[in-house]
Formats: sequence, structure tokens, C-alpha cells
Amino acid sequence: MYLQFLLALFMSRYHMGATENFARPNELALFLNRIGRVHRLHAITIVHSLGSVDPSYLDALHCGLMCNSSNHFYLLPQMTATDKDSTHARFGSLQHEKAIYLVFARNSKDAVVQLQAEKARGRRYTKTMFLLKKQESQKDIKYFFELLWKLQFRSALVVVAAKYFYRMDPYPTIRVIRMRRLSTYDPDHIFPPPNRKNLRGYRIRLPVQQDVPNTFWYKNRRTKALELAGLGGILINNLMKHLNVTMDLFSFEVNGSRLLNMAALTDLIVEGKVELSPHLYTTLQANSKVDYSYPTQVAPRCFMIPLNNEISRSLYVFLPFTLPLWLCLLIALLVVHFLYVRRLMPDGHFWAILGVPGADPVRYGSCKPGRSLCNFLILGGIFILVQTYSTKLTSFLTVTLIRRPVGSLDELLLLPYRILVLPTDAYAIVGSLGHAEQFRTQFSFTDAENFSHKRISMDADYIYPISTIRWRFFDMQQRFLRKKRFYFSTICHGSFPYQYQLRVDSHLKDALHRFLLHVQQAGLHDLWLETCHRKAHRMGYLKDFSTLAELEEKLRLRPLALNLLMPAFSLFLCGLLGSGIAFLVEIRHSFGCRQKPPPINRNPRE
Ligand SMILES: *[C@@H]1O[C@H](CO)[C@@H](O)[C@H](O)[C@H]1NC(C)=O
Ligand SMILES: *[C@@H]1O[C@H](CO)[C@@H](O)[C@H](O)[C@H]1NC(C)=O
Ligand SMILES: *[C@@H]1O[C@H](CO)[C@@H](O)[C@H](O)[C@H]1NC(C)=O
Ligand SMILES: *[C@@H]1O[C@H](CO)[C@@H](O)[C@H](O)[C@H]1NC(C)=O
Repeated sequence: MYLQFLLALFMSRYHMGATENFARPNELALFLNRIGRVHRLHAITIVHSLGSVDPSYLDALHCGLMCNSSNHFYLLPQMTATDKDSTHARFGSLQHEKAIYLVFARNSKDAVVQLQAEKARGRRYTKTMFLLKKQESQKDIKYFFELLWKLQFRSALVVVAAKYFYRMDPYPTIRVIRMRRLSTYDPDHIFPPPNRKNLRGYRIRLPVQQDVPNTFWYKNRRTKALELAGLGGILINNLMKHLNVTMDLFSFEVNGSRLLNMAALTDLIVEGKVELSPHLYTTLQANSKVDYSYPTQVAPRCFMIPLNNEISRSLYVFLPFTLPLWLCLLIALLVVHFLYVRRLMPDGHFWAILGVPGADPVRYGSCKPGRSLCNFLILGGIFILVQTYSTKLTSFLTVTLIRRPVGSLDELLLLPYRILVLPTDAYAIVGSLGHAEQFRTQFSFTDAENFSHKRISMDADYIYPISTIRWRFFDMQQRFLRKKRFYFSTICHGSFPYQYQLRVDSHLKDALHRFLLHVQQAGLHDLWLETCHRKAHRMGYLKDFSTLAELEEKLRLRPLALNLLMPAFSLFLCGLLGSGIAFLVEIRHSFGCRQKPPPINRNPRE
């Protein structure tokens, strides 16, 4: 059996060597057999356009592949498609990934090549043979290979006029290699390997737009050259270094703006002008003409809300009156009034004990032990109340008090701020949180320029949607502020993956995925976060809100701040009011009770 196999191999080799062309279908079938056997292929697909191949040739080829029970493709799945095929099924969904594609085309400009690219999406590493019917000039062949590379066919063998064999080496620039005699090649090496580790200085054009913290320009202090930086940018930088790729960075301006414009970037990729965009973006509006990498980050998107919940200091006097304290006070007053003043001490002793001016002096002789105990208990209670109040007040005075931040969607909608959004954001927010009507009144639409400027400078007039990772960056701007400008709410409208955009079936995709995995496992993102913040700060995209002038002002000796004394002053005013009332009561008392002895000074303290 084994001997037979070797013999067959030898025979086929001999046949190929003898003719070296595919003018006869049998030769092609033998060649395919050999390739199928060497690479242990599991399927074959033949695609042809009208007039690209003779029907009799095709029949003979089928026969050559199937009729002989010792052939490799004898029982394997086979499929034939033509350029009139209108189904949207992809080869990938129909066949095993170890397959070979045979594409018959009339010439190098035949539309069947595009059709193959569409049908074999996700299978660019699969061995693909293009058989062009007509003879082509060298220039046309060069263009054809450029097209193949643009379509990312990585393991392509081109046969022109059934007898000229070509393949390419795309790194560092596309080089067309004429293969003189197929038989002299090791069957393993006839098709180019689909993936390489070293791209040998391959040049790649990368558009750069500004999207702090994911991508931005950074001017290297040492070399004075502009570099790609940012969470996504650093990863691309390192990947390209790893693959030995030379980056050709250019600033991509759209309508005079350098801010991230995903629609324009996607167009750039679809038009084939760039292979990869180093920007991270969600796939909410995914474009099917572009491929996306694995998510590098998955971050919830929530709201940043202006923090304006400081409580005025003059109100501090009333703050200790919580519900229990109010209740205690009320009960105490009722007890004092009904039980004490009316029943136990109807003669005004109680007021004398409290030291209220104008009350009758206490006659100590008439005190019963039960009464004294009652007195003691009630006065003790009042004392505790007063202590509670003053302790609370003093503790409040040592800090800045704020109201509880917004915790629910309804509270968010009641805030006096509008939510600044881009039209696409509005769609995502309403889609996730509902309340379309209320949100419509709250939304304030703007363009990307204004939005990103206002959000990064933390303009406190609006609420902004923001992802957690971006917030970690922006939040660092206010770390030196005593009173923060914004806080991050717990109301979120979904978690979004942030992905890179690549050309369909890009040759960089697998390498990028492997690299992403390593970066994630090594936890490099956290390290890069620090680096990025420093770089963004140095480039002036971010700032610290506490400026030097403010700091100096803080350190300077200042006259006593009156606003600190405000609560004390309010308390003093309250006391003044209280004593005023007491004074009036006393006067009324002394005028109303003429029959009593003339009022000498009755204040027991004096
Ligand atoms: C079948 O193929 C083997 C080698 O692949 C060849 O030796 C044999 O002659 C073929 N038989 C027919 C009927 O074509
Ligand atoms: C990168 O490619 C260039 C060009 O082929 C080569 O000279 C260089 O040695 C390569 N660098 C590495 C690290 O492989
Ligand atoms: C640039 O501006 C023009 C007119 O304002 C607009 O029609 C066009 O769509 C813009 N281009 C992009 C890429 O946004
Ligand atoms: C953006 O801001 C500028 C100036 O601040 C303003 O003139 C323009 O109308 C704003 N655009 C939108 C869409 O709000």
C-alpha cells in the first residue's frame, strides 16, 4: 500500500516534470491530487466565470478528480460555483477550512476574482489557484498581484495561459516570482505560507486621529519626532515593532478636524487606502466591509454628572435636626408643658430651674423626693438633647457637607442639567435605558468637536456619557481640586467592546489577536494607562485643574475667612432672637402681674 502510494507520487511527479503545463485537464487533476495528498486537504471548490474555461475541460477535470478511486479527491466534498451565483452563502460556512480553491478567470480584470474574495471571506490563508485564460503582459500580472494582495489572498498561485506559473512575496514590497518548473519545487513550498512572523520592514500606512486616551500624537522629547501614543496606539506600536513593520504615520484630517471620525476612517479602509486603523471604537455601527479585531477593552458607558451638591454653610445650624432629634424635642416639649409646667410645677418653678428670666425663684424647702427625681430626669434629657445637637454641629463644621449624589435614572432626569450627546450616543442611550420622551427633552445635540472639547475640559454645564476607562483619565484632572467638578454616576447604558478596524481578512489580524492575548495576560494595559496619562498631560490634551496660581493663593496668608464663621454667626443670631423673645415675655409678665411685688432683679443667676 505504502509502496503504491510512493509510486503514485513518483508517477505524478514524473508526469508534471515532463509537461509542466495544464493545457490538458488530466495534468491539472494530477497536480491537484498531489497537493491534496501532501497537505491532506479535505475539500475542493472550483469557481469559474463565463467563458473562462471550456465546458469540456471542466468535465474532464471533474472526471480526473473523481473517476479514479485512488485519487485524493475521489470522495471528498467538491463544489462548483460560477459568477452567476446569487446566493450569499460563503465557502467558509459550507466547507472544511483545509480546502483548495480553483478560480478560472478570463483575464486579470475578471470580476470573478472579486466574487471569490467575497465568497471566501475568512479563508484568505487557504490555498487558492487563479488560472487566467489569456496571456498577460508583465505589467498586467504585476497589477493582478497587487489586486490579489489588496484582497489579501496570502497563499495564491497564479497560472497564466495554462503554462506560466507565478506567486508573490509581499514583504517588504510585493515581488512577483516566476516559477520556472513546478516540479523543481518541494510540494510543501509551491504555495506561499499564509502567515509570517517577520514582515521584514513591510511599510504600512496608518492614519492618526485624536481620541484621548486611546490614540493621540506624542512628541518624543529625545528624538523630537511625533509618535503614536495612547492606550490603543502603544499596543499597535509594540505589535509593529514585534512584526518588523515600518509605520508610515499620517495625520488624517477630515473637514479640518483631527478628531476621531470613524465613518471617514472606515471609508479609508474600504477604499483600500489603509490596511489598519490604530483607533479603538465600538462596533455599534459595524460595517460589514471591514473586519474588526477582538475587543481590547470592554468598558461600561455611564454618565459624568456635574457635582454641585454642596450644602450652604449657613444652613448647618438646622442640619443636626434629624427626624429622631425632632421627635425627641417634640416629646420633651410636650412632657414639659403638660406634665411638668401644668401639673407638677404650676407655680413656675420649672422656668426658674431652667434659668428663664422673669420666673419665680425656687423655694427649696417644698421639694419632694419624687419631684426632684422627675426634675432630674427631665433636665438630664434636655441636657442630652442639647449635647447631641452641639456635637453634631461641631462635627459638621469640620467638613464640607454635600447632598447624596444621583443614584437612579429618575433622579438623573430631574437634574437641572442637559445631557450633551452626539446623535449616535442618543440612539444608544435611549435604546438601552428607554424613557425616550424624557430623554428627548434632556438631550442637547452637538457635533464631535464641541462634544469632545467640552467633555475633556469638564465644562460643568452639561451631563456627558462617558466610558469608565476614559473617565479614569479625565478624572485625574480634578484630583487636586478640593471641590470636584464631576462625579461618575452608577447609571450606565451598557458595556461596549472597543476594537480595531482592519481591512477584510487582513494579514495582520492573526498576529494582532495573538499579541492582544499576550498583552491582556501580562496585564500591560494598566502599565500603559499610567504612561498614556503622563504623555497626554505633557502634550496638553489633559490638564490639572488646580493651577499654580490657585496653589499659591491657597498657601498665602489670608484674613480670617468670614464664610467659615457664618454658622457661628447664625447661631449667635438665633441666640439673640431667643433672648429677645424671652425679654418680651419677661416684660409682658412684669406688666401683666401688677399685683405681685415690684420686679426686682429675678434672674436666679445673679
Ligand atoms: C488511477 O490513478 C492511478 C494513479 O493515480 C493511475 O495509476 C491509474 O492508471 C488511474 N486509473 C484510471 C482508470 O485512470
Ligand atoms: C527587519 O527587517 C529588515 C529588512 O528585511 C532586516 O534587515 C532586519 O534584520 C529585520 N529586523 C529584525 C529584528 O528581524
Ligand atoms: C465634510 O463637510 C462636508 C460639508 O460640510 C460634508 O458634506 C461632508 O460629509 C464632510 N465630510 C466628512 C467625511 O464628514
Ligand atoms: C460648537 O461651538 C461653536 C463655538 O463654541 C458654536 O459656534 C457652534 O454652533 C457649536 N456647534 C454645535 C453643533 O453646537
